[in-house]
Amino acid sequence: MMNKLVQHLTQQLGKPSQGLWGWLVTRFLENKNRFLELNAVRLCDIQPENTVLELGFGPGLGLEEAVKYLTHPKGKLYGIDYSDYMHSIASRRLQADIQTGKVTLFFGSVEQIPLEDSVVSRVFHCNCYYYWPDLHAGSKEIHRVMKPGGLMVTTLNLEALEKIVAAGVLKGTQWPPEPYMKVLRDTGFVDVRMVDKQDKGRTFQAIFATANKA
Ligand SMILES: C[S@@+](CC[C@H](N)C(=O)[O-])C[C@H]1O[C@@H](n2cnc3c(N)ncnc32)[C@H](O)[C@@H]1O
Repeated sequence: MMNKLVQHLTQQLGKPSQGLWGWLVTRFLENKNRFLELNAVRLCDIQPENTVLELGFGPGLGLEEAVKYLTHPKGKLYGIDYSDYMHSIASRRLQADIQTGKVTLFFGSVEQIPLEDSVVSRVFHCNCYYYWPDLHAGSKEIHRVMKPGGLMVTTLNLEALEKIVAAGVLKGTQWPPEPYMKVLRDTGFVDVRMVDKQDKGRTFQAIFATANKA
């Protein structure tokens, strides 16, 4: 019984769907992940005229924050998530900026991003790569859409992750950061590093990766 609940929770975190579970997971993400989302945006060093992409945006808190930085008319924000439920919730949250064309949200997968080559200058994501069906394909695709020299930031809380993993959640996912970082290097990212960071007295981790110029 307990195993089934934990398995279901893991599935819903990886792809929330409409219904009671999806609603609960959304409340959880909104309450617990705001801190990591805001820090991913902060560490991305977004410039007003940048083109920015969030992967696995969930309820859209990071998108809401990132768009505030894009004050230049050229600044543009994209997001992609393969949960239709998350896509509809975030679309409602970002409605005004979607209407002006400042923000575009794709309902789709990280492994197939509907953007041209070398157009994105900043990418961020939180609690997302754990669930990608193919880390290598995902990373290669992100690298394809990034401008050479562009920066990608992933924030995570290793201590919290280890606790939920010990409780059986995230079983079968690819949450450990090292294999993810290796795949980033294998697919053309350079200067890939994980750093301890602090904000408001709390410690978390940030993985930085730069799209190779070659
Ligand atoms: C645990 S939630 C995190 C949501 C948000 N980033 C946060 O931290 O609150 C993971 C999100 O990533 C999305 N996701 C996972 N793998 C994906 C993939 N391969 N392509 C697109 N979206 C994906 C899920 O649908 C879900 O919305």
